[in-house]
Amino acid sequence: MLIAPSILSADFANLERDLQRIANADWAHVDVMDNHFVPNLTLGLPIVEALLRVTPIPLDCHLMIDDPDRWAPAYAEAGAHSVTFHIEAAHDPRKLAADLRAAGARSCMALKPGTPFAPYEELLDVVDMVLVMTVEPGFGGQSFMADQLPKVRQVREAVARRGGEILIEVDGGVSAATIEQCAEAGADVFVAGSAVYGAEDAAAAVDQLRDLATA
Ligand code: DX5
Ligand code: ZN
Repeated sequence: MLIAPSILSADFANLERDLQRIANADWAHVDVMDNHFVPNLTLGLPIVEALLRVTPIPLDCHLMIDDPDRWAPAYAEAGAHSVTFHIEAAHDPRKLAADLRAAGARSCMALKPGTPFAPYEELLDVVDMVLVMTVEPGFGGQSFMADQLPKVRQVREAVARRGGEILIEVDGGVSAATIEQCAEAGADVFVAGSAVYGAEDAAAAVDQLRDLATA
């Protein structure tokens, strides 16, 4: 069970400090938004490169951008631990996933809430992780969409049928109130922004989430 706090809810003027506040996290989740794929604009490769220089925490880069085929490999080459592209935006997801792996990253495909998994099941050959969005991508602090849990179960079953080591990540509205149902549905990696950075003690929030996911 891996906990990945989202720095979207951190203080952008103090990202190094806010990464130190979650030193006990497994990964740090970095939300890249381009104001095309989603109606919000955050940060890009130069900031990710800067963060890689100051943190030992593996960076889990979630690219909510158009044309990930063009932009995503550079995040892997820079040293991101995992690079997630949206299947809705990718032109050649099979090639892109292979490029990400070749550059040394874990390759991950993300599904928006309205996107079914079944048409993309064959891509389990080339991805190391599947991200099931549990909010509409674009903003932190939204309500968890429990109607996405059947999709988590569906991915879990497909991964079990296939065998191998593919992780399932959930992102959006994950908190102490919702993480157990995600774990029960089969998720392994839990992104939490507001639930971690909104807490007085972010590290304690990470430990609490991990305990709940593991229980
Ligand atoms: C939303 C982002 C999430 C966001 C989650 O588009 O992908 O990673 O930071 O924030 P919370 O945990 O507050 O829902
Ligand atoms: Zn995210």
